[in-house]
Amino acid sequence: MELDEAILNRRSCRSYDQTKHIKPEAMREIVHAGTWAPSGTNSQPWRFTVLSGEAKAEFIKLHRDDLESKRAGMTEQVQNIAFWSCTSLEKSDVVVLVWDKEKSLTSPQSLGACIQTMMLKAHGIGIGSLWVAAVRWSKEEITKRYGHPDWELIAGVGFGYPSEKMIGKKGPPRLPVDEVAEFLG
Ligand SMILES: Cc1cc2nc3c(=O)[nH]c(=O)nc-3n(C[C@H](O)[C@H](O)[C@H](O)COP(=O)(O)O)c2cc1C
Repeated sequence: MELDEAILNRRSCRSYDQTKHIKPEAMREIVHAGTWAPSGTNSQPWRFTVLSGEAKAEFIKLHRDDLESKRAGMTEQVQNIAFWSCTSLEKSDVVVLVWDKEKSLTSPQSLGACIQTMMLKAHGIGIGSLWVAAVRWSKEEITKRYGHPDWELIAGVGFGYPSEKMIGKKGPPRLPVDEVAEFLG
């Protein structure tokens, strides 16, 4: 796939073809691509938990139950984002939890590069994805079950084959370059 096509046409996918499943080798390729992202001093702070089938269903239940237990303390806006995001992950075929094991000055940037690289790789092989930071509302419970006490939960990323609804879907508008950049010299 041409690079510009991948950059411009990758979309956050919230609608999947439930009849198609990602082969384990394809998920390995996606994670492998993520490990080729740049990282501060090549620290490779990322760790991954790849959840499919029963394991994904168990994760969704744990996350949703935890959100329910916190609902009363959330604003309506946060509730909407958190539950909507959880439902979007439920619709995906595979969820990858992405962890930061270094928590260094550079690791948030390295983790962002890693997630985008995985999503572009997925797009390149016809797989849709959704970056979900809202899982962090349940980070204590998720870490207890899947992580390590010293790791930080960065995001959950849903992957799956996009439904027909996604074909030709336009992304939300972007600010023009002249509004976000100044070119000096
Ligand atoms: C750091 C980050 C966190 C995000 N968290 C969520 C989320 O919790 N739930 C969700 O539905 N989408 C989430 N998104 C997806 C954005 O809503 C989406 O990327 C944005 O609206 C642009 O749309 P596009 O990805 O189709 O270009 C997140 C994206 C990024 C980069």
